[in-house]
Amino acid sequence: MKIWIALILATLAVSAYAQCGCDTMKWATCDGTPCVCHLMVGNGTKQVLDCNKLIPKCFLMQGEMYRGRKGLSTRTGIGGKPDETAFVDNDGIYDPDCEADGTFKAKQCNNTDTCWCVNSAGVRRTDKGDMTLKCDELVMTYWVRLELKHKPTTGKVNPANLKAAIADAIHKRYKNFNKDMIKEVQYDPDARLLIVDVQQPKGERKSDLTHMAYYMEKDVKVLPLLKSQEPFVPQVGDQKLEMENILVYYVDEKAPTFTMQHLSGGIIAVIVVVAVAVVAGLLVLFFARKRHNKYNKAQQREMDNM
Ligand SMILES: *[C@@H]1O[C@H](CO)[C@@H](O)[C@H](O)[C@H]1NC(C)=O
Repeated sequence: MKIWIALILATLAVSAYAQCGCDTMKWATCDGTPCVCHLMVGNGTKQVLDCNKLIPKCFLMQGEMYRGRKGLSTRTGIGGKPDETAFVDNDGIYDPDCEADGTFKAKQCNNTDTCWCVNSAGVRRTDKGDMTLKCDELVMTYWVRLELKHKPTTGKVNPANLKAAIADAIHKRYKNFNKDMIKEVQYDPDARLLIVDVQQPKGERKSDLTHMAYYMEKDVKVLPLLKSQEPFVPQVGDQKLEMENILVYYVDEKAPTFTMQHLSGGIIAVIVVVAVAVVAGLLVLFFARKRHNKYNKAQQREMDNM
């Protein structure tokens, strides 16, 4: 009897020890009883993590910037806009300021004098300004569109099963992500394009949707953030969809306030083309004139000789 109890206690201890890890963050370090996990973030502080959930994107970005600075590896281990106000992240990663609960501060400066306002996904939604820039509130992203391109499959993908299969795969992989938020799945078999619209009710203050989108972005573009390095491969019927690319569109509760800055490249190109054309035209005129004058002078001389 005693032996049995001792054995059971021993296995419990071993499994408790084995479980001191962080499923949702491969760079986390965990120790102690009870098990506590943390992530090194900007300026070398330890951020305590709740590994029963997806880790807030703001902490993940801080962790990635920290690893980048330390020279640690960050790798280890249809289509179009959903809405006219939708936008993509053209800036990439920066070192964000986070609230204690992991939400982004509305104003971000990346440790520089240049600041901008972000949405709840930490993506810039205004022009860049100086440190006096005001961001009144953190505007929620309530809709993300995931444009996933998958690799060629061995057989046909049955579009009838698609939405349920994708919702299921997302639910299982990303900590029981709420399937009801997956509103629509469109599919273009020729382009191998899968478009997944994920929405939360307007006015919702949680950011599960943006965390999930970030985990998926890393799953497809780099390597999983999850401790388990198994790739994200949704199964639809008998077909496995291995992903090769992802583009994320963000739709915020309020439209972003970018000005025409993103058009300036196009405008500059037009100005350059017009300028070149004008200069070329002037050169042609100039040489034509010169030739004409020479001809006239030659004629004049001939006349004089006569
Ligand atoms: C943030 O700063 C880092 C260097 O400190 C730079 O590499 C990165 O491009 C900046 N990101 C943005 C969005 O400005």
